[in-house]
Amino acid sequence: MCILEIFLDSACPLEIMEGLKTGFISGVTTNPSLLAHMKERDNIWTFLRSLCTETLPHPISIEVMCEDEAEMMEQSQKICRLGSNVVVKLPLTLAGLNVCRFLVSEGIQVNVTLCFSVHQALLAAKAGATYISPFVGRLEDYGENGWNLISEMRQIFDRYQFRSKILAASMRCSRHVVQAALAGADVATMPAKVFQELFHHPLTEKGLSLFKEAYQNLSF
Ligand code: G3P
Repeated sequence: MCILEIFLDSACPLEIMEGLKTGFISGVTTNPSLLAHMKERDNIWTFLRSLCTETLPHPISIEVMCEDEAEMMEQSQKICRLGSNVVVKLPLTLAGLNVCRFLVSEGIQVNVTLCFSVHQALLAAKAGATYISPFVGRLEDYGENGWNLISEMRQIFDRYQFRSKILAASMRCSRHVVQAALAGADVATMPAKVFQELFHHPLTEKGLSLFKEAYQNLSF
């Protein structure tokens, strides 16, 4: 049976360690913007290598930082050597999909990112992507429906038996995680703040303090 996997969208070693400790996180996604926020890191490749080691055995997506196909191919090989749990993250462009097809044929896991439409998703699935990342939050910011995108992907992938996993990305709040699950995503990747939100409800906090008060009035 399929379950919704929870990935952490972060390049912060501390956040990743804390998340993994909970036992609910089964993978990590990074992107150039998240890496750019890590001001205190050393050389980027040394930093990425240690992130891969820290997340083992869970998959960690690391994105290429170029658009040219030949350069992307070269950078992908370098990313692959960072660790056995690496998933190469490629943009949804013709060049990205060509590199995707090649890497998948070599047994390398690929996450095709920046997916905003069903027709783009269909091409990524045909290129054999391991994961496809629709950015639902950005679509919602743009006034479009990200949840229809996921449910249409689900219908098409099921009909044609595409094995690519739908990785709902760009989650803004806990409700987005529920909507991703309802729409049929395989994975939801979220920032640490959204992951923390999943544990809370004001009535749980209130109920706890009422029970604590009652407990203190009990005599044993
Ligand atoms: O990792 C990709 C994605 O989750 C980015 O999210 O918040 O920059 O739209 P965001």
